[in-house]
Amino acid sequence: MAFTVTLRPSGHTFTADADTPLLQAALDAGFTLPYGCRNGACGSCKGKVLDGEIDHGKVQDSALPAAERTAGMALFCCATARSDVTLECREVGAAKDIPIRILPCRVHKLERVADDVIVMSLRLPTNERLQFLAGQYIEFMLKDGKRRAFSIANAPHDDELVTLHVRHVPGGEFTGHVFGTMKEKEILRFQGPLGSFFLDESSQKPIILLAGGTGFAPIKAIAEHAIHTGITRPMTIYWGARDQAGLYLSALPPQWAAAHAHIRYVPVLSDENWDGRRGLVHRAVLEDHTDLSAFQVYACGAPAMIDAARADYIAAGLPATEFFADSFSFATPGS
Ligand SMILES: Cc1cc2nc3c(=O)[nH]c(=O)nc-3n(C[C@H](O)[C@H](O)[C@H](O)COP(=O)(O)OP(=O)(O)OC[C@H]3O[C@@H](n4cnc5c(N)ncnc54)[C@H](O)[C@@H]3O)c2cc1C
Ligand code: FES
Repeated sequence: MAFTVTLRPSGHTFTADADTPLLQAALDAGFTLPYGCRNGACGSCKGKVLDGEIDHGKVQDSALPAAERTAGMALFCCATARSDVTLECREVGAAKDIPIRILPCRVHKLERVADDVIVMSLRLPTNERLQFLAGQYIEFMLKDGKRRAFSIANAPHDDELVTLHVRHVPGGEFTGHVFGTMKEKEILRFQGPLGSFFLDESSQKPIILLAGGTGFAPIKAIAEHAIHTGITRPMTIYWGARDQAGLYLSALPPQWAAAHAHIRYVPVLSDENWDGRRGLVHRAVLEDHTDLSAFQVYACGAPAMIDAARADYIAAGLPATEFFADSFSFATPGS
């Protein structure tokens, strides 16, 4: 049986059955409530039940002491509805509402998907989940104080592992290790989530997603998040690489496009002759759209691509405020 859940003060409503934790039901409906462990241990998802009956589920006393329970508080990651309920809780509208944390993680899997790209998945300690917005990144904290940034390639609803797309930088210290001596089960430490590259969900404008190489990682997260939350704004994904091997997950965007009429996919190669589009990926957008004034653009990849895209799209009418980008800039030697 499905119950109606109302959130205060926003007034948002969604449904939850008796087996689905209220947090999960809210996330499934596209409403982001704060959370950490999703296991009744950290208290991050705590809120007040203003009206209705719930089952608290298996929560730890330290996270929800008896006095708080009596006062109507609950941990929404464990609590399930037993009637229509009204909950008082904060909703995460922007990155500033999500705590930035330092967490250890274990390398769960290293999967070579191209000569110079490894998909790395990380497992967090038991009782920990990373809350983030699709498009954000983490920074590995290396032993010598250096940091290396990588975008999260999975969408927030799919948060069992943190997945990254790591390109090998020739001579690179960290990526050299990833492609050389790193083994599954290695322990790393990172800080995150970071960055303000995420979808503006208040807009109704059609979306252009532009990815260069492993810039596909946050674009994938944004696309999967938009699909999961039922955003049906027209969305065109341009993914550029030198050759077909560089489109290392080439089967995925066509699947999105085949399943959703509002999604289009345009792969573009700069250095290989094929029967698809040729040239620089950011130029392909301009070949298809002479006037960008009605769009939002989300771009991710090498700094040169981002700089050129920004200048050329604004010249084609895109309002500067509608260009969102994460530039894969890198640490200068010695930093
Ligand atoms: C916000 C953000 C998100 C990022 N997300 C991703 C991601 O999802 N996937 C990904 O593959 N990369 C990503 N990057 C780039 C990534 O952080 C760097 O490639 C990485 O830090 C290189 O580390 P390294 O220790 O191997 O190289 P270093 O030892 O730091 O550098 C070795 C040499 O290569 C140069 N160099 C370093 N990085 C690059 C680069 N990217 N391109 C060209 N030359 C470089 C350096 O200047 C130096 O001369 C991101 C960068 C930022 C800022
Ligand atoms: S998310 Fe940690 S207690 Fe609910």
